[in-house]
Amino acid sequence: MTDAPTTPQRPWLDATLPVEERIDLLMAQMTLAEKVGQTHMVANIHPNDDAAEIASGRISSSLYASGATAGNERDAGVLVANIDAAQRHAVEGSRLGIPLLFGRDVIHGHRTVSPIPLGIAASFDADLAEQIGEVAAREAAVDGVAWTFTPMVDISEEPRWGRVAESLGETPVLSGRLAASIVRGFQGDDPGDPDRIAACAKHFAGYGLGAGGRDYDTVSVGENTLRNLHLRPFKAAVDAGVLSLMAAFNDVDGTPMHAHEHLLREVLKDEWGFDGVVVADWNGVGQIVFQGAAADQREAARLAIRAGVDLDMVSGAYLEHLEELVETGEVELALVDDAVRRVLRLKFRLGLFERPYAGRPGASNAPTPETREIALRAGQAAHVLVKNDGVLPLDASADAGSVLLTGGFVDDGDALLGTWVLDGRGEEVVTPADALRERLGDRLTVGDGRFSDVTLMQARAAETTVMLLGEHRSRSGEAQSVVDIGLPPGQLEVLRSVAAFGKPLVAVVYTGRPLDLSEVLDLADAVLVVWHPGTEAGNALASVLLGEVEPHGRLPMTFPLSAGHIPTSTHQRPTGRLIRADVDHKEGRYIDALTYPRLPFGLGLSYTSVDYGAPTVSAPTLPLDGSVTLSVTVTNTGERPCRETVQLYFRDPVAEVTRPLVELTDWALVDLAPGEAREVTFDVRADQAAYVGRDLTTRVDEGEIVLLTGPDAARLQPVSVTVTKKDS
Ligand code: NOJ
Repeated sequence: MTDAPTTPQRPWLDATLPVEERIDLLMAQMTLAEKVGQTHMVANIHPNDDAAEIASGRISSSLYASGATAGNERDAGVLVANIDAAQRHAVEGSRLGIPLLFGRDVIHGHRTVSPIPLGIAASFDADLAEQIGEVAAREAAVDGVAWTFTPMVDISEEPRWGRVAESLGETPVLSGRLAASIVRGFQGDDPGDPDRIAACAKHFAGYGLGAGGRDYDTVSVGENTLRNLHLRPFKAAVDAGVLSLMAAFNDVDGTPMHAHEHLLREVLKDEWGFDGVVVADWNGVGQIVFQGAAADQREAARLAIRAGVDLDMVSGAYLEHLEELVETGEVELALVDDAVRRVLRLKFRLGLFERPYAGRPGASNAPTPETREIALRAGQAAHVLVKNDGVLPLDASADAGSVLLTGGFVDDGDALLGTWVLDGRGEEVVTPADALRERLGDRLTVGDGRFSDVTLMQARAAETTVMLLGEHRSRSGEAQSVVDIGLPPGQLEVLRSVAAFGKPLVAVVYTGRPLDLSEVLDLADAVLVVWHPGTEAGNALASVLLGEVEPHGRLPMTFPLSAGHIPTSTHQRPTGRLIRADVDHKEGRYIDALTYPRLPFGLGLSYTSVDYGAPTVSAPTLPLDGSVTLSVTVTNTGERPCRETVQLYFRDPVAEVTRPLVELTDWALVDLAPGEAREVTFDVRADQAAYVGRDLTTRVDEGEIVLLTGPDAARLQPVSVTVTKKDS
């Protein structure tokens, strides 16, 4: 700052004034250099090394720092920070006293870790998702974190892409509804509450479409598909009040998203009225140069601020060039002002001007019985039973037969935390060995699952073997794409040998993505897909295996027959040549394989059997501005209780553009006692069938809509309604 004015009075600290007025008062005092400072985010801020830079007002926010005070006890290797010491330089040492904003990836838990987001999606439980967010926010706030970069709502039909682990599944309504709940969980009614933090919907937009399932790859998609599918969960998050969005690393049809003025400024900010912060992804502004769409950082900064990226995550391009770009007239001051206003709005909304310091003497964020209870319920809900020939549940009585628990995950707590866990601790995880030992005592033998004579002898001696298979947490998540979606090398060989004994065999699959489980499904008598369940992994597994709770998770993504079948999902659109797999497999799209999904979206068995009646509607017509009631009777025909996820899909047989074969639009979680029949009703509105037409505006057509109900996307029964202008 050259001609820094003297320290002004600070009328914006008057919390009784409306936020927009406080922003006006503050911005009226800011130099251009100070404004640019508010658009610059650094990583790993250091309270001493960065003191002068912070005090100069040239840093807006920080990424990754965790730890409110120097006194926080941390494990070796975990990032230590003294957030409050850094904050003091900003609040007390800078001319205007604008507080720093501390962000960190708190994705599915902070100290208490719940299942990975794909596992949370398997719950289909919006209330639970909200509770998970609430716990994570409270724990993160203790460490001084005010902003998290979740939920990720990228829609993907790509099991090869490691980041599906962080997604909320392949369908826009499930993803959007859970995202809205997670946003509410983190932010609450008032994000200024000390126990709440800001959320961030990411990555806007199209990130789940990277070519070949390769992370960061290019995206070729038309705006109609973007609007009808990929943008919808973002809109749901915006409607739920999410305070920020993150731009995606990819390009969309040739334009890097960090330079995409149409999607960021015209659609998100202008059309949707989003008034929060658009944050860059890591060096996303700088990467426009690598993408070959800007000659240098200066041009990248110009493109990104114009496009609507408000906060530059770590590239430094804004800090370096924005001032000069404004002075030369290449960037209008109004664009910088818009970005600064949004960043300040976030800081005001978070109450940082009133409460800049995070330290709470004596506060702990270690897991408690209450937080563990939520993680346990979430872990149980993430357990998806996809096959059971009657071996489950295991007999819990003390004199029942012996059980071998074996495989790489038996006592590796850290591996079960899942991707993007920065603060959860492996030693705080209840492992499968811990939990089953407690329940089975001498009946249990624990093995390591290696391909060795020891494993074979253990399996031959045991009455039942439970094999823990799948991916280590480090095999999914960012930059963890694979070409082979089978089990990691070596595991199938052991499974085959153990299966050869012909004794009851249960396969438990830990994974961050849909895997090719064809042979596992053939060999094992029961198969549970359990994702990475987090802190209560062992208790969740043991309680499901022994029938203390009924399995009730559902697959939030389709499991394809093989990697060669990707992409597969429910939202595939009809072609001019219909595939009649039920009639003639030759009509498939490959000459060397059939084309149905190996495990359909929505699938999840329980320990009982459930019958679905045919759906009926309260009226044959559905007024454009009204609704009908759809009813379906579900009956528990078995001997155990269950929690059934009754699913409602629709198909629009004639529209202006091709529409999905089926689209999930609603669901209900229904608890049924043995023998109980229940009529489940859904209120169906015409706007649930709204779509974006050829002119890119939203419309609802008159005419037939097919509503379909059932236990998963492959077992549906239809009923039709006619959408009409008038109630008739
Ligand atoms: C890159 C990832 O794409 C994004 O999701 C994450 O929030 C940032 N890094 C910050 O860690």
